[in-house]
Amino acid sequence: MLRRVLGGRRGGALPPRPPARAAADQTPPDLARERSKAVTSFYHQPAIDVAAEKPSVRLTPTTMLYSGRSQDGSHILKSARYLQQELPVRIAHRIKGFRSLPFIIGCNPTILHVHELYIRAFQKLSEFPPIQAQGDEARYCALLRQLLEDHKDVVTLLAEGLRECRRHIQDERLLRPFLDKTLTSRLGMRMLAAHHLALHEDKPDFVGIICTRLSPKKLIEKWVDFARRLCEHQYGNAPRVRINGHVAARFPFIPLPLDYVLPELLKNAMRATMESHLDTPYNVPDIVVTIANNDIDLVIRISDRGGGIPHDLLDKVTEYHFSTAEASAQDPRLGGPFRNLLDLSNSGQAGPMHGFGFGLPTSRAYAEYLGGSLCLQSLQGVGTDVYLRLRHIDGKGESFRI
Ligand SMILES: Nc1ncnc2c1ncn2[C@@H]1O[C@H](COP(=O)(O)OP(=O)(O)O)[C@@H](O)[C@H]1O
Ligand SMILES: [Mg+2]
Repeated sequence: MLRRVLGGRRGGALPPRPPARAAADQTPPDLARERSKAVTSFYHQPAIDVAAEKPSVRLTPTTMLYSGRSQDGSHILKSARYLQQELPVRIAHRIKGFRSLPFIIGCNPTILHVHELYIRAFQKLSEFPPIQAQGDEARYCALLRQLLEDHKDVVTLLAEGLRECRRHIQDERLLRPFLDKTLTSRLGMRMLAAHHLALHEDKPDFVGIICTRLSPKKLIEKWVDFARRLCEHQYGNAPRVRINGHVAARFPFIPLPLDYVLPELLKNAMRATMESHLDTPYNVPDIVVTIANNDIDLVIRISDRGGGIPHDLLDKVTEYHFSTAEASAQDPRLGGPFRNLLDLSNSGQAGPMHGFGFGLPTSRAYAEYLGGSLCLQSLQGVGTDVYLRLRHIDGKGESFRI
């Protein structure tokens, strides 16, 4: 019924549920009730309005670090109670964002689907009884895990949905603030949820998601291996990556945002290198990553010799949805040993080396959310230097809040 009302792909507004679970713990009357609740909640949901008026309480990483330990385990209950207060407020703010979208965007089936995921999350989190004992907290963790899983494709869905809407509304001033806010707020919520879940683990050098002695070099190497494998798969070869600068540095840091940003930046550098050397794919220049550690921030510079970003595109590359992937797939030289790229772009799916033109804008939004920045310097004709700056979390300088 709801599907017919709201229409569209992905089953309209209701996210598809895995059949096994639906059969096991959801009887048809439950489903029907949930559906009718979902329909009305697009419009009439006083609890969301109330929560959306409350301010969000953001934490500094130092607070997360020091409240992440206690002898008696009381920090876990405290952390769960904080999330129980905080997550519905943040989600309500985001629902307000969806409601303020222009009509033509708000009723795009994919956007509607994401909007409803947020409403469903709000309901599940607000319905949860007060967390008093360990058993409550364990059930709350199960709910957090389920929500993290349900929302894992949100970035792709927003990218797809809004790309469809670009036909109607191209105004970057409208889409950018919505995407920056939705994506960074999502990063913040995921960091908080992952932190809480990780407080249960006893991983050496970690308090929740905070690594107490992170080696940037090791983390960079991990993502270099990942990006090189993708690159080899797509282009038959991959540039080597040299790491220099403060290679021995270790300090407290949260690796999670870097797990998104590093692979994006490395893939971009590798793709540019390979595509500017299509005639000599087995003889390509190295990429150089320089680590600079100082009292205030960690700077990672990724330098490639992939031809640089042309003058007229420099402002565009950090816009959401801007990508030259389609244009480069037209190159006949990518038709031979590099069929993968062509096949993927012809089938309408972005290859793994590039996506929806979300890599740079999302990385920049994440860096700024964490008190840092992302800057590009293009040596047109030669290559690109990308500077990623992220603030330290040791509490010495001014801190950002998650
Ligand atoms: N290191 C680089 N060298 C040259 N061009 C780049 C580099 N990084 C990004 N670009 C350009 O910026 C565009 C947008 O990058 P990104 O946001 O990561 O999206 P995508 O990789 O999906 O195209 C790319 O399509 C490419 O044209
Ligand atoms: Mg990219």
